[in-house]
Amino acid sequence: MLTFEKIGAHNISRVPEPCRFCLYWQTCGELSPKISKDEMENVKLKWFGELEETFGNCAKIAFVNSVPLGFMQYAPAKYFPRINDYASGPPSRDAVFLACLYIISKDHRGKGYGKIMLKNLLEDLKGRGFGAVETFARVDSENNPSGPLNFYLKHGFKVVRQKDDFPLIRLKL
Ligand SMILES: CC(C)(COP(=O)(O)OP(=O)(O)OC[C@H]1O[C@@H](n2cnc3c(N)ncnc32)[C@H](O)[C@@H]1OP(=O)(O)O)[C@@H](O)C(=O)NCCC(=O)NCCS
Repeated sequence: MLTFEKIGAHNISRVPEPCRFCLYWQTCGELSPKISKDEMENVKLKWFGELEETFGNCAKIAFVNSVPLGFMQYAPAKYFPRINDYASGPPSRDAVFLACLYIISKDHRGKGYGKIMLKNLLEDLKGRGFGAVETFARVDSENNPSGPLNFYLKHGFKVVRQKDDFPLIRLKL
């Protein structure tokens, strides 16, 4: 059975790697190789704190039998500078942008967990009054922060704009 925890200072150490140290969405251009993992974790924790104040919860850990299995990160697009690198953008102002939906171990993929994670997120955002979710999915490959296009098409997302292999897709809640 999957359980979910919202991220805070008390549980950031349980965010599975590499997500715990990943500042891909919080930056744009080249990722700085000079920052240590500890510094990255601190930057990310500070970012989570700021988002909590302005947007509310913006990330969750998914656990299976109390072991971290996956990670989800989401917020309005203005909080993710990396979005500017994507040709199919920009995301719509009314949408929450799903930056990351990731099951860390390949052994855990293809077993229905991703579907449960997405459902949990969509219900959460709907309950908070948001009207739409958008992401950049990837055509013909799951090697992408939020995963492959087909996963989302199966869940009712529609393509908004496609300039390359990372179309902007949207689900109305
Ligand atoms: C994308 C991801 C979250 C999907 O989760 P999952 O548990 O594997 O997916 P599910 O088993 O819940 O599948 C749900 C549906 O989507 C489909 N699906 C899942 N992965 C798919 C893929 N790679 N290509 C096509 N369809 C896919 C399934 O066939 C299933 O359809 P069904 O309901 O008709 O059976 C997961 O595979 C993942 O994290 N992949 C790695 C992504 C990655 O490398 N990210 C980089 C992060 S920096």
